[in-house]
Amino acid sequence: MNELNGKRILLGVTGGIAAYKAAELVRLLTKEGADVRVVMTNSGTEFIPPLTLQALSGNPVHTSMWDQSIPNGMPHIELSRDCDLVLVAPATANFMAKLAAGRADDLLSTLCLARDCPLILAPAMNKQMWENSSTQRNLDTLLQDGIHFVGPDSGIQACGEQGAGRMSEPGLIASEIISWLQPKLLQDRNVVVTAGPTYEAIDAVRGITNASSGKMGYAVAQAARDAGANVTLISGKTSLVPPSQARFISIISAKDMLDAVLNEVDHADIFISVAAVADFSVRNPSERKIKKSQQKLNIEFDETPDILKTVASRKNRPFCVGFAAESEDVEEYAKKKRMEKGIPLIVANLVTEALNSDTNSLILIDDDGSKTLPPSSKLEQARLLMTHISRLITKQ
Ligand code: C5P
Repeated sequence: MNELNGKRILLGVTGGIAAYKAAELVRLLTKEGADVRVVMTNSGTEFIPPLTLQALSGNPVHTSMWDQSIPNGMPHIELSRDCDLVLVAPATANFMAKLAAGRADDLLSTLCLARDCPLILAPAMNKQMWENSSTQRNLDTLLQDGIHFVGPDSGIQACGEQGAGRMSEPGLIASEIISWLQPKLLQDRNVVVTAGPTYEAIDAVRGITNASSGKMGYAVAQAARDAGANVTLISGKTSLVPPSQARFISIISAKDMLDAVLNEVDHADIFISVAAVADFSVRNPSERKIKKSQQKLNIEFDETPDILKTVASRKNRPFCVGFAAESEDVEEYAKKKRMEKGIPLIVANLVTEALNSDTNSLILIDDDGSKTLPPSSKLEQARLLMTHISRLITKQ
C-alpha cells in the first residue's frame, strides 16, 4: 500500500553510527511512494556515503550551503519549502543542542530553522549522552518548540553499553511518519473504541469467551488517532500493543466493558463498538475451581448487557458505529442489526474473512445504502472507515 504517495519528505542525516539505518529508512519511505530528499551534515557523510542515499532515494544528496546546483542559490529555502515534513534520523546530541539554541551553521540546521513544515527527530547517541542534563534540557526546549520525537529506544548500543539512546528501527520511524501524515479528519474529536473479546468466568480457571484477535478494533483505534482524534481504547485481553497516545482501559467481562464505556461516553463525540462481546455471562460463577469429579455440571447463563444499544439509546448519544460479523447473508443481517440497535452506521464483514486475519473487506451500511470496500489491510480499511465517519458527521 502506498501510504505516502505524493508526499515529499526531507531526510536529514547527522553524524552517528545509526546513520547506516538511514539507508533502510529511505528505502521504506520511497517504497510507500514518498519523494525523499536527503541532506547530510559533514559528519553524517563520514558514516554513510551520500551515493548510497542518492541511489536509494533517486535524488541528489545535498551537503553544502553553497550548492551551485540550486537555481536561486539558497538551498536552505529551496529544499525546505516544498516538503511535507523534515525528519532528522539519526539526530545526534550535538544536532539537538544546535536546534535548541537556534543555530544555523550548516545546511541541515539552517533549513530546520527556515522550514515551514513539521520537524521530527529520531535521536541516536550513547546513553550517558542522552541522559546528560544538557541533552535533557535541550529535549525539553525542543518539545516546547513543537518539535516531535520518535524514540530513542533502549537496548545494546554500538559502544557496547546498554540503555536509552538507540535510534528507533526504520520500520517504526516509517510507520510514525505515515501516521503523522494522515489527513486530520477527526482533529480533536473524542473517540471511544471497544475491541477484543470479553471473558465471562465459570470458575476460578474456566470461562467462556469469543474468538477475537482484537486486530480490527486496534486498527480502528490507530486510524482514529492518526486522524487527529483523542482516542480511548477499551479492550478485552489480546496480544496486541495499543497505539501510542491512545488512552487504554483493560477490561475482562462484558459488565466491566459496559461500566468503562459508560464512564467515558459522556465526553465522546464518536463511539465505535468493534468488541466481540460475549452474549451470555455465567450466573453465580464459582470463585474456586470446580472439581471434575462432580457428575453433572449445570451452568445458568444470563444475557449480557448490549453495550452499543445502551449507548445508542442515551439522550446525548455520540455518533454510534457498530460492527457485525456474520457467517452468511452478511448485508441482510447487518442491516437488520443497524435498525435493532438504532445506530446510524454499521460495519459488516464475513467471519471467515475477518477472524484472526490481517486483511478484511468491510461493508459500510448507513441511511444512504451500503458500500463494500475492496479487500486490504485492517489498518487501511480502518482509515477508509474514518473518512466515511468524518463525512457522515459533517453532514449531520
Ligand atoms: O448483536 P451483535 O452482537 O451481533 O452486534 C454486534 C455489535 O454490537 C458490535 O458492534 C458489538 O461490539 C456490539 N455489542 C455490544 N454489546 C453486546 C453485544 C454486541 O456492544 N452485548
